[in-house]
Amino acid sequence: MITFDELKDLLKGNRSYRRFDATRSISPEILHKLVGLTRYCSSARNLQPLRYRCVTSGEELDKVFPTLKWAGYLTEWEGPAETERPTAYLVQCIDTELTTNCLCDDGLQLEAITLGAATLGIHGCIIKAFNGPKVSEVLGIPDRFKPLYVLALGYPAETVETIDTDGTTLADIRYFRDKNDHHIVPKRPIEELIL
Ligand SMILES: Cc1cc2nc3c(=O)[nH]c(=O)nc-3n(C[C@H](O)[C@H](O)[C@H](O)COP(=O)(O)O)c2cc1C
Repeated sequence: MITFDELKDLLKGNRSYRRFDATRSISPEILHKLVGLTRYCSSARNLQPLRYRCVTSGEELDKVFPTLKWAGYLTEWEGPAETERPTAYLVQCIDTELTTNCLCDDGLQLEAITLGAATLGIHGCIIKAFNGPKVSEVLGIPDRFKPLYVLALGYPAETVETIDTDGTTLADIRYFRDKNDHHIVPKRPIEELIL
């Protein structure tokens, strides 16, 4: 059993990373291991309707990358350079023959996967801004399975840190890059979260 502080540290370290070491691949076995964690997540009506398409081959990585939109707040940044691209993707899909609404199963599972990945030194970015039909097309995902999220994964090639914000303006919660090119993520303080 891990302690509260160990869990907190794991969560604090589980940031969104968008720049990776493109020379370090991730095996399908590791992705399968990560997807295996989702079996232990809670599931509305215990339907367990989510499925994952694993992407690790160079050819498929190249096809998925152009369908993704990165870091809306970093308007000057065009996304990861070729040497910084993710080396794996998990495309989370819903089996529409079971349900079209998984409530919060998707988020619970993404958190489990990213936490598990973090313990292996792998980080990533949950991506909602992507072209779902195009991803299905390039990966040959059958119509029955609708992509909900793409989780981009890799070994990080950037530093990501949180800072506290008072969150009173939108500008306060926008992530940014500091003078050292570290990615800084403002987080609201506990006082603001408790009603
Ligand atoms: C539901 C969801 C959708 C997201 N979609 C995108 C996205 O399309 N593109 C992107 O670059 N980041 C995306 N992110 C990452 C968020 O920008 C990131 O979680 C936020 O900036 C806070 O940073 P943190 O994850 O390090 O706490 C998404 C995150 C979540 C939870």
